Amino acid sequence: MKFAKFAAIALAATILPFASAMAQTIKIGFITSYTGQNASVGVMMDKTVKLWMKEHEKDLPAGVKVEILTRDDTGPNPETAKRLATELVTRDKVDFLAGVIWTPNAAAIAPIAAEAKTPFVIMNAGTSAIIPSGGAPYTVRVSFTLWQSSLPLGQWAAKNNLKKVYSLVSDFGPGIDAETAFKKGFTDGGGNLVEAVRMPLATQDFAPFMQKAKDAKPDAVFVFIPAGVQATGVMKAYSDLGLAKEGIKLIGPGDITTDEELPNMGDVALGAITMFHYSAAATRPANQAFLKMWQRDYGANDWPAFEAAATWDGMMAIFDTIKAQGGKVNGEKSYSLLKGWKTDNSPRGPIMIDPENGDIIQNEYLRRVEKVNGVLGNVEIETFQTAVKDPWKLLNPKK
Ligand code: PHB
Repeated sequence: MKFAKFAAIALAATILPFASAMAQTIKIGFITSYTGQNASVGVMMDKTVKLWMKEHEKDLPAGVKVEILTRDDTGPNPETAKRLATELVTRDKVDFLAGVIWTPNAAAIAPIAAEAKTPFVIMNAGTSAIIPSGGAPYTVRVSFTLWQSSLPLGQWAAKNNLKKVYSLVSDFGPGIDAETAFKKGFTDGGGNLVEAVRMPLATQDFAPFMQKAKDAKPDAVFVFIPAGVQATGVMKAYSDLGLAKEGIKLIGPGDITTDEELPNMGDVALGAITMFHYSAAATRPANQAFLKMWQRDYGANDWPAFEAAATWDGMMAIFDTIKAQGGKVNGEKSYSLLKGWKTDNSPRGPIMIDPENGDIIQNEYLRRVEKVNGVLGNVEIETFQTAVKDPWKLLNPKK
């Protein structure tokens, strides 16, 4: 007995250092908002990372482990985001930075990623200029830009008999992008944007804004707000003030009918038209498989929205990058592999990271809120445009 124990210890002493030299732990610094404005979105992104790890940790090369270091940036707070990213790269020596709901935070993190040569995978923040036309070194985006959805929505609105539109957006990067892009698509097509109002980012009471929109008697109100509970606030104001009864339509990028909030919105959401890249109601097999796993783990009434799809795809991109390097990652190599990365297996359809600048290329779907088996969903009516590159970059080429 004694001898056996000794032998076991001796064996462990010779094998263990060898085993740990073989094993490689890859660290992902995952920053999102677990508290603060629209924190439910951060929780959804976190649930996605956990689901990905549960399903795919086994796909890593032998001896390779992935460790997720989660950090709470507490909402749109660039100073906090910057500090967290700095700590993650200098102290924790992460191999990847990922996550981030908010544009100001992503814009603060991108230069840190560049300096540390640590790839940064943006899983939400959607303002085009975070990634300029020539790229932001070491930053890629798997989510979306507001230009991708709002420009084609403006084109669609002009062609579909909406003559007068009133615009309401949150006053920060993605809101300004949404307004500018919609305006271009709509007015180039002959539409009349009667008013463009910018609302404070933290506003929860949309009634005063919606009342003014109603008074202008437009054919539609175009709205962008950051998705999460604020979307339900917008829908409540639209309902309480009776805009639908006046025949005023509600349109916007998919943030306003975000899938997980639809059950909280109720039937007033029916008929809302949005342009977007992901819907939980999409029937494509990759989405049905994703939804099935999600609802198996989180319940039949829990819906993954676009932030979940982007987090899922971002994890897929990072894992593919790790696998392509046989588990021994290097920042420069990882970034070059992320650029041009693509998959046909995303819940949103085929996607690719633009090799020229690191931004996302994806389809845009025209959707309408309808009931599917008694449940509200963003039903994809048509694939409006395929393989859409960020239009803002095409309009603002590298100087
Ligand atoms: C952003 O900050 O870029 C942002 C936040 C929430 C959204 C979309 C964009 O729904």
